[in-house]
Amino acid sequence: MLLIQPIGLILATLRKICACDGFVRNGSWKNGDFELTTKFSGKVVGIVGLGRIGSAIAKRVEAFGCTISYHSRTKKPNTNYRYYSNIVNLAANCQILIVACSLTEETCHIVNREVIDALGPNGVLINIGRGAHIDEPELVSALLEGRLAGAGLDVFENEPEVPEPFLGLENVVLLPHVGSDTFETSKAMADLVIANLEAHFLHKPLLTPVI
Ligand SMILES: *[C@@H]1O[C@H](CO)[C@@H](O)[C@H](O)[C@H]1NC(C)=O
Repeated sequence: MLLIQPIGLILATLRKICACDGFVRNGSWKNGDFELTTKFSGKVVGIVGLGRIGSAIAKRVEAFGCTISYHSRTKKPNTNYRYYSNIVNLAANCQILIVACSLTEETCHIVNREVIDALGPNGVLINIGRGAHIDEPELVSALLEGRLAGAGLDVFENEPEVPEPFLGLENVVLLPHVGSDTFETSKAMADLVIANLEAHFLHKPLLTPVI
């Protein structure tokens, strides 16, 4: 999996690409330039969950010259990224917070009001994990009250239901849980299933055994 889509979501959120598109389509451009937006390069990025997906995102984010820190249950031995055992401290010390952990009892609503307020009015939240990682009503009120700069969301608590107030906000980018859904990854996944089945019936080692 290439995991380019989370980077696309970050850029779309910071650079307001979707609102820009609407601005051109509805003719507003003729009345003046689009507002200034935020640059991605050089930002401090906090990643929640440095597993397979979190690490893959970190690698790509590094290419933008961003400083990376992370929060997870335990410190990872094989990385120099700065570790925060407390997610509130991570949020207080980054500008872009990316949620990429798996959903467990512990990580349900891990992004609550305290975390959102620590991220603050210049902070941007990106969720490519699961909807339930975020306390959605708190996110809605933070955005409406200007306590958070913006959010890029690929997942929602009750998808395909999306909280109504999000629909009217221009500092929010909403994706229909597309994750890694591309023609290429769908084909790669289908090919892998077939290769595993072939190996199974030929009594060969499986390509991706479940351990
Ligand atoms: C056109 O779209 C932009 C971006 O969504 C929005 O800010 C603006 O208010 C719209 N203008 C009109 C006239 O609909």
